[in-house]
Amino acid sequence: MTITIKTEKDIEILREGGKKLARVMKHVLSFIAPGISAEELDRIAEEKIKQESAQASFKGYEGYPSSICVSVNDEIVHGIPYKEKILQEGDLIAVDIGLIYNGLFTDMARTVIVGKGDIDARRLLTVTEKALARGIGAVKHGAFVGDIGRAVESYVHPYGFGIVRKLVGHGVGYGVHEEPQIPNFVSSDTKDAKLLAGMVIAIEPMITEKGEDIITDADTWTVRTKDGSRAAHFEDTVLVKKNGAEILTRI
Ligand code: MF3
Ligand code: CO
Repeated sequence: MTITIKTEKDIEILREGGKKLARVMKHVLSFIAPGISAEELDRIAEEKIKQESAQASFKGYEGYPSSICVSVNDEIVHGIPYKEKILQEGDLIAVDIGLIYNGLFTDMARTVIVGKGDIDARRLLTVTEKALARGIGAVKHGAFVGDIGRAVESYVHPYGFGIVRKLVGHGVGYGVHEEPQIPNFVSSDTKDAKLLAGMVIAIEPMITEKGEDIITDADTWTVRTKDGSRAAHFEDTVLVKKNGAEILTRI
């Protein structure tokens, strides 16, 4: 497997797909309120995805049972949208959605607080969102994948938050996950691939209030912090260009 370079025609489709995904995300987030279940959010997403003439890429991916991931508080990613998962005031909700549009894949995640939340939760969200922006800021033709992780880590480090190291971003577009892996930290165990114009990658910092260790639930999907501290997750699909990045998952 090698890193793929997308054709102009495919980039055009990914641009459209990314906009569709951003609209689906906005729609789903607008329903987040105390009392709604994660399962209802999944249904709302499915309906909107259909309206956008797209498909949910996660459903059936390695047996994943739902269209979206909803990860609450200490859940970091891949939370299954169970109907018993009822959102409560102050909860931190990470919504992760993947679309297939015209055969091409985009990926996006946002974390929000139900209601106002406490100051620590708000800070965690702001820092994680800015970490994503820093990562995206490191992208351009000729830069290295490692520059992204360095930008994320150097930004997050002073806040004392944990950076999840067992999960990483990835290439995307022709599949849910493509090469290369995109760590959110300086890594010595992956070879540092060069970014080239036409590559499409998903950058997705997963940041915790404290520890970096993770555990996976018996459902084999839900990933949570080992120490029970809360986590935030922001993800965008971006196109590598000559002088920077184009964020595809924006309206
Ligand atoms: N955005 C998720 C990731 O990159 C995709 C999850 S696939 C699922 O890890 F099947 F777990 F939903
Ligand atoms: Co992803």
